[in-house]
Parts: sequence; C-alpha cells; structure tokens
Amino acid sequence: MENIKYENGTLFLLDQTLLPNEEKYIVPKTKEDYFNAIKKLQVRGAPAIGIFAAWAMALLDGDKEELKKYLDSARPTAVNLSWATERMLNAYKSGKNLIDEALAINNEDKEMCKKISEYGLSLLKDGDGILTHCNAGALATSSYGTGLGPLLLGKEKGYNFKVFTDETRPLLQGARLTSYELEKAGVDVTLICDNMASLVMKQGKINAVLVGADRIAANGDTANKIGTSGVAILAKHYSIPFYVLAPYSTIDFNCKSGDDIVIEERDGEEIKNMFFEKPTALKETKCFNPAFDVTDNELITAIITERGIIKKPFNKELKKIYD
Ligand code: MRU
Repeated sequence: MENIKYENGTLFLLDQTLLPNEEKYIVPKTKEDYFNAIKKLQVRGAPAIGIFAAWAMALLDGDKEELKKYLDSARPTAVNLSWATERMLNAYKSGKNLIDEALAINNEDKEMCKKISEYGLSLLKDGDGILTHCNAGALATSSYGTGLGPLLLGKEKGYNFKVFTDETRPLLQGARLTSYELEKAGVDVTLICDNMASLVMKQGKINAVLVGADRIAANGDTANKIGTSGVAILAKHYSIPFYVLAPYSTIDFNCKSGDDIVIEERDGEEIKNMFFEKPTALKETKCFNPAFDVTDNELITAIITERGIIKKPFNKELKKIYD
C-alpha cells in the first residue's frame, strides 16, 4: 500500500493517524492542509515527510520561499523535510518541472530504501530476533523503509525473523504502525510495551536492534524517536548490536554533535488524551513531550545508509562518504 500517491493530477495521502483501524486517503488542497498533515502526523517518518513536502512545493501556487519556510516549521528535527523543500526550491529557481522533481525524489527514495535494506540484511542471519522502536517502515518512507527495510526485504527472500516492536510511547507508532505493517507482510511480530525491552534482551530473544533516524550529526550522534537512546543503552549492556538505518540525506554535517540538534517538543495533550477513551492524567498535570532523543555515537554499532555500512570512528568514517 502506497502512503503517498499522485494519480491523474491529484495527491492522495494515507492518513496514518487512523491506522490500524481504518485505511483512508485524504486529499490535501491548501498549504494549511499540507502543514497540518505533517504536524498532526497524518504523514510521518522523516523520508515520507520529505516526499510529501516536495509534493506541496510542486502543487501549491504562491511564494515558494515562504512555502518552504512554513512547511519546514511543521517538524524541526527531521532533516529530510528541509532537505526536500530546499531541493524543490532550487528546482523551481532553475526552471525545472516541479512535478518531475517531486517524482524523482519519490523514486530515488525507493532505490535508497532498497539499498539500505540490502546492506542491513547483510548484517542479519535467518531466524534472528530483532527489536525495533517506533516505525521506520514503508509507511515512514516510499517503500521497504529504513529500520524495517531489512526485515521486509528479508521476508521476500525467505528469511524468518522474530521481531519485537516497542509500542513506542507516547504516540504508539510501534503498536499502531509497525505491528500493522509487519503483520500485513507476514513477518512474525510481537508487540511489547517500551519497558519490556530489557526483559526480552535478558531472555536472549534479541540478536540486533534496528531503528531509523531523523537527523545524524557529523560525529554519529543520532536523533531518533523518543525512547531510542534508552534502547541503545540496554543493547550496550546486553552486548547486542544497535544499528541506525537512514538515508545519506539524514546526515547533517552542519551539526557537529547531538547537542546541536533541535528536538521537537509536542503538545502534552498527546500523552494524556490521544489514545485512550478517558484522560490518563489530571487536566492540570504538567507534561513534557519531546518527540525525539539523541543516541550517543558510542552506543551505535553501525550507521547504514544507501552509501554503505559505516562503523566507528564515525567522525572520520562519515566524512569519507561526504559529497
Ligand atoms: O515522530 P515520527 O513518527 O515521525 O518519528 C518517526 C521516527 O522516529 C522514525 O523512526 C524516523 O523518522 C525514521 S523514518 C524511516
């Protein structure tokens, strides 16, 4: 199922906030529709946000510089968003066909995901137990995904992985999206609460952790969905390889380390009200709701991009693949 599709001049977006209960496409029309779809996570996952924003740049009339700034402000951590709008702005300035450029971004993403999936799969063995956090599958990209890519590609090639997905509080992308996506693909998946990750590792059920990333600093610190750094700390404790899979465009060489990465903070109501019939805390209870945290490079075994498998020292090795 394609999450973003352009058919006969109309852009359709699979509304991820309704999954797994309803598979419904919406048709964004105005710049506010596009902005809100990103902000409210109807489209989410760094590469998918970039592709969707590229379509906004292609299809909406008006001042493209203003539009870029407006869209970029919807979610500050995912570098792929501003990367895609920048590329579309440059295409506009040089008189290129913007529909072709948005299609190119989408198609390149497909190739990129396939390569990342192949590199990732080369690190795994048939029968491995895998832990993943949040959703870095086809829903978060154009196809296959990044963190889930090796698992979906592996399934096609006959591998039998046993996948554990953290539910991923507060927004439950692991429960709502990853388990949905893996079930549909026929991958053996077990949903666990975030605080169960240590137990399944201790029980010897996990051979590797695979996650996506929203921004990677030049020293290899990575911003991933909130809770990921805790999983990385556990993986180190249990000597389990921890792999970050992301497109090359996720590396931000302007950020020296994770300290330079801006962490998106979201509305606390998402914690108290979003997925339960009744509020889970008092109305007046203060919430802190960061969308991402930073995983220190020392906790990461390898960063996998479409340009290959990058190992430590990240400072030096990431520079080698820099354009
Ligand atoms: O807040 P989200 O749902 O957009 O967060 C998504 C993630 O953390 C993904 O793992 C990340 O964007 C990588 S997407 C391939």
